Amino acid sequence: MRLPPHLAVRDGRLLIGSHDCVALAERFGTPLYVTDGDRILHNYERYANALKAHYPKVRVLYAAKANSNLSILRMLAIAGAGADVFSSGEIELALKAGMKPQDLLFNGSSKSRRDLALAVERGVRISVDSLDELTQLEEMAASANRMVKIAFRVNPALEVPTHPKIATGLRTSKFGIPHEEVVSAYREAMRCPHLEPAGMHCHIGSQILEMAPFAEAARVMLRLAGELKDIGIHLEFIDLGGGLGIPYRREQDPEVGPEDYASAVMPHFLKGIRELGIEPELWVEPGRFIVADSTLLLTRVNSVKHAHANFANVDAGFNLLVRPVMYDAYHEVIAAGKADQPATQVWTIAGPICESGDILARDRRMPELIAGDLLAILDAGAYGFVMSSQYNARPRCAEVLLRGDEARLVRRAETMEDIISTMVV
Ligand code: LLP
Repeated sequence: MRLPPHLAVRDGRLLIGSHDCVALAERFGTPLYVTDGDRILHNYERYANALKAHYPKVRVLYAAKANSNLSILRMLAIAGAGADVFSSGEIELALKAGMKPQDLLFNGSSKSRRDLALAVERGVRISVDSLDELTQLEEMAASANRMVKIAFRVNPALEVPTHPKIATGLRTSKFGIPHEEVVSAYREAMRCPHLEPAGMHCHIGSQILEMAPFAEAARVMLRLAGELKDIGIHLEFIDLGGGLGIPYRREQDPEVGPEDYASAVMPHFLKGIRELGIEPELWVEPGRFIVADSTLLLTRVNSVKHAHANFANVDAGFNLLVRPVMYDAYHEVIAAGKADQPATQVWTIAGPICESGDILARDRRMPELIAGDLLAILDAGAYGFVMSSQYNARPRCAEVLLRGDEARLVRRAETMEDIISTMVV
């Protein structure tokens, strides 16, 4: 298997950065999320530089939903990232991590009044998703006596080659204002004395490995920017969202990167702004590309069972990584202490949850496994821990962040006390 440069095999052991996974599991226990912070910074810089090579006024708003551990947000804040935030919780985390309110864009199709109030009070820009939200926001900005900079989320009605649950720019999606109605929405916003229509936003979906839909979205956005110019709106920023995928199936997925994304999108963006004579900032919101490959989920084999299939029953299930069950997602699995042994058997990796769907990986060629073996599930950094649950009264596991030779706990494992503490008998 082709491993990314921060992973390696030495003496049969899987290493992440300079750290032996078997030793990390012994030190911190399993299940365990282990993140290579240096890899995150590398991915972030790569993404930002790929776009800045075409146009200097680029801002990267990391999609905090992908992984909102405070230590990771803090590292990205120091590196200069802003954030796409989707709830008042994510606003609070991003601010606590040191990001500035003006470097955040608050997105979402169902914001509560409390969410909106926090964004107004803190001076966070808001991507408005409906005319009802616009009216509520104007009222709130007026009563707080604040000017709020807004964008509208555009639904560009584009088909994208990804799992239907994560295609967000379809005509039938719940997100955004249909592109034919966008200009009239901005007209409406111009009549709101406390709202300043400063930007325009779209996001077409996630885990996209073909570049054509991104280029098409850029074309739609620049066409709309022209129509907005005609009604007197000068956009400060155009936000093209996130969505660049990663090669989870390392043997067969195309290895596309931000350079390919930039080569597909930037010609449309640059041609559009030149024709219009405008120079807005270009905002982008990558989540997965920045964090996915930085992280392993380490899980230990509790028992093996040779039935109609060879089951390795492990201590992590969809309580900790829901992607395989929810999107039929594929994650590579490596036997972290036997990484040089021949893959002679076919295994199903099954979690401990009381549901037959709790399978993390199917039909994988791996060495012979026994109870106590350690498995590493790759590419677990995006939409991994953040989507975890306490189903079956299982406390969530710890997270460790690696920087160089240092390994630090950045989230302790929950205990039964944590689970019980919010209950009232
Ligand atoms: N911007 C907006 C408005 C978004 O809704 C998202 C992701 C992003 C940016 C970041 O997209 P990315 O670069 O990470 O593809 N849980 C699913 C993915 C859900 C994506 C939600 N929105 C999964 O595990 O595949």
